Amino acid sequence: MTESPVLLPSSPESGRLRASAARAGSLREITLTRPDDWHLHLRDGDTLRAVIGDSARQFGRAIIMPNLKPPVTTTEAARAYRGRILDALTQAGFQTEAFEPLMTLYLTDRTPPDEIRRACDSGFIHGVKLYPAGATTNSDSGVTDLLANCRQTLAVMQDLKMPLLMHGEVTDPQVDVFDREAVFIERVMRPLRQAFPALKVVFEHLTTADGVAYVREADGPVAATLTAHHLLYNRNALFRGGLRPHYYCLPILKRETHRQALLEAATSGNPRFFLGTDSAPHPRGAKEQDCGCAGCYTAYHAMALYATAFEAQGRLDRLEAFASLNGPRFYGLAPNRGTITLERCEAVIPQALAVDGTDVVPLAAGETLGWRLRG
Ligand code: DOR
Ligand code: ZN
Repeated sequence: MTESPVLLPSSPESGRLRASAARAGSLREITLTRPDDWHLHLRDGDTLRAVIGDSARQFGRAIIMPNLKPPVTTTEAARAYRGRILDALTQAGFQTEAFEPLMTLYLTDRTPPDEIRRACDSGFIHGVKLYPAGATTNSDSGVTDLLANCRQTLAVMQDLKMPLLMHGEVTDPQVDVFDREAVFIERVMRPLRQAFPALKVVFEHLTTADGVAYVREADGPVAATLTAHHLLYNRNALFRGGLRPHYYCLPILKRETHRQALLEAATSGNPRFFLGTDSAPHPRGAKEQDCGCAGCYTAYHAMALYATAFEAQGRLDRLEAFASLNGPRFYGLAPNRGTITLERCEAVIPQALAVDGTDVVPLAAGETLGWRLRG
Protein backbone atom coordinates (compact mmCIF):
# COMPACT_ATOMS: atom_id res chain seq x y z
CA MET A 1 0.00 0.00 0.00
CA THR A 2 1.33 3.45 -0.79
CA GLU A 3 1.05 5.93 2.03
CA SER A 4 2.06 9.51 1.49
CA PRO A 5 2.51 11.49 4.69
CA VAL A 6 -0.21 14.05 4.02
CA LEU A 7 -3.32 14.11 1.96
CA LEU A 8 -1.54 15.14 -1.21
CA PRO A 9 1.58 13.36 -2.37
CA SER A 10 3.15 16.04 -4.60
CA SER A 11 6.78 16.39 -3.77
CA PRO A 12 7.82 20.05 -3.19
CA GLU A 13 7.60 20.48 0.57
CA SER A 14 5.49 23.59 0.55
CA GLY A 15 3.24 22.48 -2.27
CA ARG A 16 1.26 19.75 -0.68
CA LEU A 17 -1.49 21.62 1.06
CA ARG A 18 -1.57 24.35 -1.57
CA ALA A 19 -2.34 21.79 -4.25
CA SER A 20 -5.68 21.03 -2.68
CA ALA A 21 -6.72 24.65 -3.07
CA ALA A 22 -5.65 24.71 -6.69
CA ARG A 23 -7.85 21.71 -7.43
CA ALA A 24 -10.79 23.08 -5.66
CA GLY A 25 -12.76 25.09 -8.15
CA SER A 26 -14.08 28.55 -7.84
CA LEU A 27 -15.50 28.93 -4.32
CA ARG A 28 -13.92 32.11 -2.95
CA GLU A 29 -15.26 32.16 0.58
CA ILE A 30 -17.38 30.20 3.03
CA THR A 31 -19.46 31.71 5.80
CA LEU A 32 -20.63 29.46 8.59
CA THR A 33 -22.22 29.68 12.00
CA ARG A 34 -19.45 30.45 14.48
CA PRO A 35 -17.94 27.06 15.30
CA ASP A 36 -16.94 25.51 18.64
CA ASP A 37 -13.89 23.48 19.60
CA TRP A 38 -15.03 20.46 21.59
CA HIS A 39 -11.52 19.49 22.78
CA LEU A 40 -8.89 22.12 23.58
CA HIS A 41 -5.77 22.46 25.75
CA LEU A 42 -5.25 26.08 26.84
CA ARG A 43 -2.71 25.40 29.63
CA ASP A 44 -2.28 28.15 32.23
CA GLY A 45 -0.35 31.33 33.07
CA ASP A 46 1.70 32.96 30.32
CA THR A 47 1.00 30.16 27.84
CA LEU A 48 -2.74 30.55 28.37
CA ARG A 49 -2.43 34.30 27.79
CA ALA A 50 -0.43 33.71 24.62
CA VAL A 51 -2.69 31.09 23.00
CA ILE A 52 -6.22 32.07 23.97
CA GLY A 53 -6.62 34.61 21.17
CA ASP A 54 -6.02 31.94 18.55
CA SER A 55 -9.08 30.02 19.72
CA ALA A 56 -11.25 33.04 20.48
CA ARG A 57 -10.74 34.45 16.98
CA GLN A 58 -12.42 31.41 15.44
CA PHE A 59 -14.54 29.64 18.03
CA GLY A 60 -17.45 30.73 20.19
CA ARG A 61 -16.84 28.09 22.86
CA ALA A 62 -14.41 25.33 23.69
CA ILE A 63 -14.34 22.31 25.95
CA ILE A 64 -11.28 22.99 28.10
CA MET A 65 -9.12 20.03 29.00
CA PRO A 66 -8.26 19.68 32.70
CA ASN A 67 -4.78 18.10 32.46
CA LEU A 68 -2.96 20.94 34.19
CA LYS A 69 -0.28 20.42 36.83
CA PRO A 70 -1.94 19.73 39.25
CA PRO A 71 -5.00 18.50 37.35
CA VAL A 72 -8.41 20.16 37.67
CA THR A 73 -10.15 17.53 39.80
CA THR A 74 -12.72 19.63 41.65
CA THR A 75 -15.47 22.08 40.81
CA GLU A 76 -13.67 24.75 42.84
CA ALA A 77 -10.45 24.25 40.88
CA ALA A 78 -12.45 24.44 37.64
CA ARG A 79 -14.10 27.66 38.84
CA ALA A 80 -10.71 29.22 39.52
CA TYR A 81 -9.28 28.02 36.18
CA ARG A 82 -12.32 29.42 34.37
CA GLY A 83 -11.66 32.78 36.03
CA ARG A 84 -8.03 32.74 34.83
CA ILE A 85 -9.19 31.92 31.29
CA LEU A 86 -11.65 34.82 31.27
CA ASP A 87 -8.94 37.16 32.62
CA ALA A 88 -6.56 36.02 29.89
CA LEU A 89 -9.28 36.58 27.31
CA THR A 90 -9.76 40.16 28.44
CA GLN A 91 -6.01 40.76 28.53
CA ALA A 92 -5.82 39.49 24.96
CA GLY A 93 -8.31 42.19 23.96
CA PHE A 94 -11.51 40.12 23.68
CA GLN A 95 -14.85 40.72 25.35
CA THR A 96 -15.63 37.93 27.80
CA GLU A 97 -18.84 37.23 25.86
CA ALA A 98 -16.76 36.49 22.76
CA PHE A 99 -15.60 33.08 23.95
CA GLU A 100 -17.07 30.75 26.54
CA PRO A 101 -14.81 28.20 28.22
CA LEU A 102 -16.82 25.02 28.84
CA MET A 103 -15.00 23.52 31.79
CA THR A 104 -14.30 19.86 32.54
CA LEU A 105 -13.21 17.83 35.55
CA TYR A 106 -10.32 15.38 35.53
CA LEU A 107 -11.58 11.97 36.66
CA THR A 108 -9.44 10.08 39.17
CA ASP A 109 -9.83 6.73 40.92
CA ARG A 110 -11.20 8.70 43.86
CA THR A 111 -13.53 11.31 42.34
CA PRO A 112 -16.53 11.17 44.69
CA PRO A 113 -20.08 11.08 43.32
CA ASP A 114 -20.77 14.33 45.19
CA GLU A 115 -18.14 16.08 43.08
CA ILE A 116 -20.23 15.25 40.00
CA ARG A 117 -23.30 16.71 41.69
CA ARG A 118 -21.37 19.90 42.50
CA ALA A 119 -20.05 20.04 38.92
CA CYS A 120 -23.54 19.70 37.53
CA ASP A 121 -24.92 22.37 39.85
CA SER A 122 -22.16 24.80 38.86
CA GLY A 123 -23.60 25.26 35.38
CA PHE A 124 -20.13 25.80 33.91
CA ILE A 125 -18.84 22.21 33.90
CA HIS A 126 -19.87 20.31 30.79
CA GLY A 127 -17.92 17.07 30.97
CA VAL A 128 -15.66 14.80 32.98
CA LYS A 129 -12.46 13.66 31.31
CA LEU A 130 -11.12 10.14 31.52
CA TYR A 131 -7.37 9.87 31.15
CA PRO A 132 -6.30 6.28 31.59
CA ALA A 133 -3.32 6.65 33.98
CA GLY A 134 -0.14 7.01 31.95
CA ALA A 135 -1.87 7.38 28.58
CA THR A 136 -0.62 10.88 27.73
CA THR A 137 0.60 14.30 28.94
CA ASN A 138 -0.19 14.87 32.66
CA SER A 139 -2.22 11.71 32.99
CA ASP A 140 -0.39 10.34 36.04
CA SER A 141 -3.36 11.06 38.30
CA GLY A 142 -5.73 9.41 35.84
CA VAL A 143 -7.83 6.31 36.27
CA THR A 144 -6.17 2.93 36.74
CA ASP A 145 -9.31 0.79 36.34
CA LEU A 146 -12.50 2.57 35.28
CA LEU A 147 -15.13 -0.01 36.14
CA ALA A 148 -13.40 -1.22 39.28
CA ASN A 149 -12.83 2.23 40.77
CA CYS A 150 -15.41 4.66 39.40
CA ARG A 151 -18.75 2.82 39.31
CA GLN A 152 -20.67 5.03 41.72
CA THR A 153 -19.33 8.17 40.13
CA LEU A 154 -20.24 6.91 36.65
CA ALA A 155 -23.75 6.05 37.86
CA VAL A 156 -24.27 9.65 39.00
CA MET A 157 -22.88 10.96 35.72
CA GLN A 158 -25.33 8.78 33.85
CA ASP A 159 -28.24 10.02 35.96
CA LEU A 160 -27.27 13.67 35.64
CA LYS A 161 -26.43 13.38 31.92
CA MET A 162 -22.88 14.57 32.54
CA PRO A 163 -20.80 13.46 29.53
CA LEU A 164 -17.72 11.28 29.98
CA LEU A 165 -15.00 12.47 27.60
CA MET A 166 -12.67 9.58 26.96
CA HIS A 167 -9.05 9.42 25.96
CA GLY A 168 -9.67 6.08 24.31
CA GLU A 169 -6.40 4.19 24.56
CA VAL A 170 -5.27 1.33 26.75
CA THR A 171 -1.97 1.84 28.53
CA ASP A 172 -0.92 -1.83 28.66
CA PRO A 173 2.72 -1.74 27.49
CA GLN A 174 2.16 -5.13 25.83
CA VAL A 175 -0.24 -3.53 23.36
CA ASP A 176 1.31 -2.01 20.25
CA VAL A 177 1.04 1.79 20.31
CA PHE A 178 -0.86 1.75 16.99
CA ASP A 179 -3.44 -0.71 18.36
CA ARG A 180 -4.24 0.98 21.65
CA GLU A 181 -7.48 2.57 20.48
CA ALA A 182 -8.87 -0.61 18.95
CA VAL A 183 -8.02 -2.59 22.10
CA PHE A 184 -9.61 0.13 24.26
CA ILE A 185 -12.92 -0.45 22.48
CA GLU A 186 -12.92 -4.10 23.48
CA ARG A 187 -11.44 -3.82 26.97
CA VAL A 188 -13.00 -0.57 28.23
CA MET A 189 -15.63 0.95 25.95
CA ARG A 190 -17.85 -2.10 25.46
CA PRO A 191 -17.92 -3.16 29.14
CA LEU A 192 -18.48 0.45 30.21
CA ARG A 193 -21.40 0.94 27.88
CA GLN A 194 -22.89 -2.38 28.83
CA ALA A 195 -22.83 -1.31 32.48
CA PHE A 196 -23.99 2.27 31.76
CA PRO A 197 -25.93 2.23 28.50
CA ALA A 198 -27.42 5.70 29.00
CA LEU A 199 -24.13 7.40 29.93
CA LYS A 200 -23.27 10.18 27.50
CA VAL A 201 -19.87 9.38 26.06
CA VAL A 202 -17.55 11.30 23.74
CA PHE A 203 -14.81 9.20 22.21
CA GLU A 204 -12.20 11.95 21.96
CA HIS A 205 -9.77 12.42 19.07
CA LEU A 206 -10.79 9.30 17.22
CA THR A 207 -7.98 7.91 15.06
CA THR A 208 -9.02 4.55 13.63
CA ALA A 209 -11.53 2.91 11.30
CA ASP A 210 -12.36 0.65 14.27
CA GLY A 211 -13.33 3.71 16.32
CA VAL A 212 -15.43 5.14 13.50
CA ALA A 213 -17.30 1.86 13.10
CA TYR A 214 -17.90 1.65 16.84
CA VAL A 215 -19.29 5.18 17.10
CA ARG A 216 -21.47 4.79 14.01
CA GLU A 217 -23.04 1.58 15.19
CA ALA A 218 -23.26 2.03 18.96
CA ASP A 219 -26.67 2.29 20.56
CA GLY A 220 -27.23 5.23 22.87
CA PRO A 221 -25.64 8.64 23.36
CA VAL A 222 -22.18 8.20 21.84
CA ALA A 223 -20.28 10.77 19.80
CA ALA A 224 -16.68 11.46 18.77
CA THR A 225 -14.39 14.39 18.15
CA LEU A 226 -11.96 14.48 15.24
CA THR A 227 -8.78 16.55 15.08
CA ALA A 228 -7.48 18.38 12.03
CA HIS A 229 -4.13 16.60 12.27
CA HIS A 230 -5.68 13.14 12.15
CA LEU A 231 -7.79 14.20 9.15
CA LEU A 232 -4.82 15.63 7.25
CA TYR A 233 -1.89 13.36 8.08
CA ASN A 234 -1.09 9.70 8.31
CA ARG A 235 1.77 8.17 10.28
CA ASN A 236 4.28 8.67 7.49
CA ALA A 237 4.33 12.35 8.50
CA LEU A 238 6.25 11.30 11.61
CA PHE A 239 9.12 9.90 9.59
CA ARG A 240 9.29 12.04 6.46
CA GLY A 241 13.05 12.35 5.79
CA GLY A 242 13.81 11.92 9.51
CA LEU A 243 12.07 12.04 12.85
CA ARG A 244 9.42 14.80 12.95
CA PRO A 245 8.50 15.54 16.57
CA HIS A 246 5.95 18.20 15.69
CA TYR A 247 3.73 15.49 14.20
CA TYR A 248 3.87 13.42 17.36
CA CYS A 249 0.61 13.38 19.28
CA LEU A 250 -1.46 10.89 21.22
CA PRO A 251 -3.26 8.94 20.04
CA ILE A 252 -0.48 8.65 17.47
CA LEU A 253 -1.16 9.24 13.77
CA LYS A 254 -2.30 6.03 12.10
CA ARG A 255 -1.99 4.53 8.62
CA GLU A 256 -3.72 5.95 5.55
CA THR A 257 -6.70 3.58 5.60
CA HIS A 258 -7.61 4.92 9.03
CA ARG A 259 -7.24 8.55 7.92
CA GLN A 260 -9.60 7.82 5.04
CA ALA A 261 -12.17 6.40 7.47
CA LEU A 262 -11.93 9.52 9.64
CA LEU A 263 -12.36 11.83 6.65
CA GLU A 264 -15.35 9.84 5.52
CA ALA A 265 -16.90 10.06 9.00
CA ALA A 266 -16.24 13.80 9.37
CA THR A 267 -17.77 14.63 6.01
CA SER A 268 -20.62 12.10 6.15
CA GLY A 269 -23.12 14.41 7.81
CA ASN A 270 -23.52 11.92 10.68
CA PRO A 271 -24.24 14.15 13.72
CA ARG A 272 -22.19 11.92 16.01
CA PHE A 273 -18.94 13.34 14.61
CA PHE A 274 -17.82 16.85 15.41
CA LEU A 275 -14.83 19.16 15.66
CA GLY A 276 -12.31 18.92 18.49
CA THR A 277 -8.84 20.23 17.70
CA ASP A 278 -6.93 18.72 20.63
CA SER A 279 -4.68 21.71 20.03
CA ALA A 280 -1.91 21.19 22.58
CA PRO A 281 0.87 23.78 22.79
CA HIS A 282 4.29 22.60 23.92
CA PRO A 283 7.44 24.73 23.83
CA ARG A 284 9.66 23.77 20.91
CA GLY A 285 12.34 22.48 23.29
CA ALA A 286 9.92 20.10 24.98
CA LYS A 287 9.19 18.43 21.66
CA GLU A 288 12.66 18.54 20.08
CA GLN A 289 14.51 16.37 22.58
CA ASP A 290 15.33 12.74 23.34
CA CYS A 291 11.92 12.16 24.93
CA GLY A 292 9.64 14.70 23.25
CA CYS A 293 6.11 15.56 24.41
CA ALA A 294 2.97 14.54 22.53
CA GLY A 295 0.79 17.28 21.09
CA CYS A 296 0.21 19.35 17.94
CA TYR A 297 -0.53 23.05 18.04
CA THR A 298 -3.44 23.71 15.68
CA ALA A 299 -5.53 26.42 17.32
CA TYR A 300 -3.71 29.10 15.31
CA HIS A 301 -5.10 27.91 11.95
CA ALA A 302 -7.69 25.34 12.99
CA MET A 303 -10.57 26.29 10.72
CA ALA A 304 -8.30 26.66 7.69
CA LEU A 305 -6.94 23.17 8.36
CA TYR A 306 -10.41 21.65 8.63
CA ALA A 307 -11.53 23.50 5.49
CA THR A 308 -8.54 22.00 3.66
CA ALA A 309 -9.53 18.50 4.76
CA PHE A 310 -13.20 18.96 3.83
CA GLU A 311 -12.32 20.50 0.50
CA ALA A 312 -10.09 17.56 -0.38
CA GLN A 313 -13.21 15.39 0.04
CA GLY A 314 -15.31 17.79 -2.04
CA ARG A 315 -17.53 18.34 1.01
CA LEU A 316 -17.10 21.93 2.12
CA ASP A 317 -20.90 22.01 2.26
CA ARG A 318 -20.74 19.74 5.34
CA LEU A 319 -18.15 21.75 7.27
CA GLU A 320 -20.75 23.80 9.11
CA ALA A 321 -22.61 20.78 10.50
CA PHE A 322 -19.32 19.26 11.69
CA ALA A 323 -17.85 22.46 13.12
CA SER A 324 -20.86 24.39 14.36
CA LEU A 325 -24.02 22.26 14.73
CA ASN A 326 -23.34 18.64 15.69
CA GLY A 327 -21.36 19.43 18.85
CA PRO A 328 -23.91 21.76 20.48
CA ARG A 329 -26.64 19.28 19.66
CA PHE A 330 -24.85 16.49 21.52
CA TYR A 331 -24.04 18.71 24.50
CA GLY A 332 -27.60 20.07 24.66
CA LEU A 333 -26.61 23.66 23.81
CA ALA A 334 -27.80 26.05 21.14
CA PRO A 335 -25.50 26.79 18.21
CA ASN A 336 -23.58 30.05 18.49
CA ARG A 337 -25.02 33.26 17.20
CA GLY A 338 -22.90 35.02 14.62
CA THR A 339 -20.74 33.69 11.82
CA ILE A 340 -17.16 33.44 10.65
CA THR A 341 -15.93 33.66 7.09
CA LEU A 342 -13.08 31.69 5.61
CA GLU A 343 -11.63 33.09 2.44
CA ARG A 344 -9.57 31.47 -0.21
CA CYS A 345 -6.08 32.82 0.15
CA GLU A 346 -2.64 31.29 -0.08
CA ALA A 347 -1.40 31.71 3.47
CA VAL A 348 1.98 30.36 4.58
CA ILE A 349 1.91 28.89 8.06
CA PRO A 350 4.65 30.46 10.21
CA GLN A 351 7.64 28.33 11.17
CA ALA A 352 7.10 29.25 14.80
CA LEU A 353 4.83 31.32 17.02
CA ALA A 354 6.13 33.30 20.00
CA VAL A 355 4.59 31.92 23.18
CA ASP A 356 5.61 32.57 26.75
CA GLY A 357 9.23 33.58 26.04
CA THR A 358 9.78 30.55 23.84
CA ASP A 359 8.30 29.37 20.59
CA VAL A 360 5.69 26.85 19.58
CA VAL A 361 5.82 25.21 16.17
CA PRO A 362 2.35 25.02 14.63
CA LEU A 363 1.17 22.00 12.68
CA ALA A 364 2.25 22.13 9.02
CA ALA A 365 4.74 24.95 9.72
CA GLY A 366 6.10 26.43 6.50
CA GLU A 367 3.37 24.88 4.35
CA THR A 368 0.78 26.85 2.42
CA LEU A 369 -2.92 26.56 3.17
CA GLY A 370 -5.61 27.48 0.67
CA TRP A 371 -7.86 29.12 3.27
CA ARG A 372 -7.64 31.71 5.99
CA LEU A 373 -9.98 33.30 8.46
CA ARG A 374 -11.24 36.70 7.36
CA GLY A 375 -10.68 39.58 9.75
O1 DOR B 1 -1.08 14.73 21.88
C1 DOR B 1 -1.65 14.97 22.93
N1 DOR B 1 -1.34 16.06 23.68
N2 DOR B 1 -2.59 14.12 23.37
C2 DOR B 1 -3.15 14.25 24.57
O2 DOR B 1 -3.96 13.42 24.89
C3 DOR B 1 -2.73 15.31 25.50
C4 DOR B 1 -2.14 16.45 24.78
C5 DOR B 1 -1.41 17.41 25.70
O3 DOR B 1 -1.95 17.77 26.75
O4 DOR B 1 -0.30 17.83 25.36
ZN1 ZN C 1 -6.31 16.34 24.39
